[in-house]
Amino acid sequence: MAAFGTVFMPEMAVARFSDGAWSSAEIVSSNSISLHPGAHVLHYASTCFEGLKAFRHEDGSIHLFRMDRNVARMQQSSQLLSLPAFETPMLEQMIIDIVRRFAAEVPAPPGSMYIRPTHIGTEAAIGKAAAPTLSSMLYVLLSPVGDYFAGGAKPLRLLLEENGARCAAHMGMVKSGGNYASALQPILKARASVQADQVLFCPGGDVQETGAANFLLIDGNEIITKALDTSFLHGVTRDSILTLARDLGMTVSERELSVEELLERAAKPGAEAALSGTAAVLTPVGTLIRGTQEHQVGSGEAGPVTMKLRQALNAIQWGKAEDKHGWLRKV
Ligand SMILES: Cc1ncc(COP(=O)(O)O)c(C=O)c1O
Repeated sequence: MAAFGTVFMPEMAVARFSDGAWSSAEIVSSNSISLHPGAHVLHYASTCFEGLKAFRHEDGSIHLFRMDRNVARMQQSSQLLSLPAFETPMLEQMIIDIVRRFAAEVPAPPGSMYIRPTHIGTEAAIGKAAAPTLSSMLYVLLSPVGDYFAGGAKPLRLLLEENGARCAAHMGMVKSGGNYASALQPILKARASVQADQVLFCPGGDVQETGAANFLLIDGNEIITKALDTSFLHGVTRDSILTLARDLGMTVSERELSVEELLERAAKPGAEAALSGTAAVLTPVGTLIRGTQEHQVGSGEAGPVTMKLRQALNAIQWGKAEDKHGWLRKV
C-alpha cells in the first residue's frame, strides 16, 4: 500500500481571493499550481490546512465526518494568520463538490478519503514580513487512504520533551505548516536516540500533545487530557472520543496534567494512554520515555478502553452504529 497521503485524486476544488473578493470556486487539475517565487506563503509562511475524512457506508453512500468542525478551525487558523476570511458555505460546498466528483474512489472501511483543505498567501511581495498577504488561494485536495495501522495497532513509544515546545505557545491551536517544521528536529532526534515513534511535548512539565495528535490518559473510569488553550491543536477526534467516553459513563477530566502525575498514573497496572487524530483515530501508547528511563504504560499493550473507544468511533464513521450526535453529513 502507498504511504499515507501520497496518492492524489487528479482534480481539486479551488477558489482565489484578490482585490477584496473571492472568485467562484472551480474544479481544476491537481497536478500543479502556479505561484510567484516571491509569494507571501513561501517567505512568511502564511499557510494553514485541515484534515478530515469521507467514509463509504455499506449501501454505497458517502459521508463526511464533522466537516463543520474542520471548516470552523480553518477559519480560525486563517484569522490568526491574517489570511483573508471566507464564509463557511463556500468551503463546505468546495469539499462537497470535490468529494461528490470522486465518490466512486472513496475506499471502503477501513479505508477512507482523506480531505486536505489548504489556504495559502499568494501575493508576490517579499517586503511584507510584517504585513498580511492581499491575495490567497484556497484549495481542497483528496487522497484515498487505507488503514493507517494495517497490521495491528502496535503500542507507540513516546519520548517526553520537557524543555522544548512543539511551537510558539500562542500558535499551537493554529493548524499551520510552520508548527510541523518546528517540531521536526526534536522528533528526528527522538527517533535516533531512543527509537521513539513520536515526541510528547511537555514544556515545563505540562503534558500537551505530540507532533500531529492529541494525548489522552485513561485511568480506570477516568479519561484525562489537557484543557483547551492556545498552546495545542483542538482536535476533532479528541472532542469526539471525549464525547463517546461520556456516553459510556466515563469521567472526562479536561485539565492540566503534569509529567509527574502522568508517570505516577501510567505505572498502575490498568492504565492506558492513547493518541487521537484524524489519521491516527485512537492509537495506543505503550511506553513513555523520560531521558533514557523507560516507563511502561499499564500492561504496555493496547488497552481495552482504548480499543473500545476506537471501535465506537469507527462504528459511527462506518455507518455501523447510530450517529446520535449528528456527526455525519451525506454528500
Ligand atoms: C498537532 C496536531 N494535534 C492534534 C491533531 C488531531 O486533530 P484532529 O483530531 O482534528 O485530526 C492533529 C491532526 O490533525 C495535529 O496535527
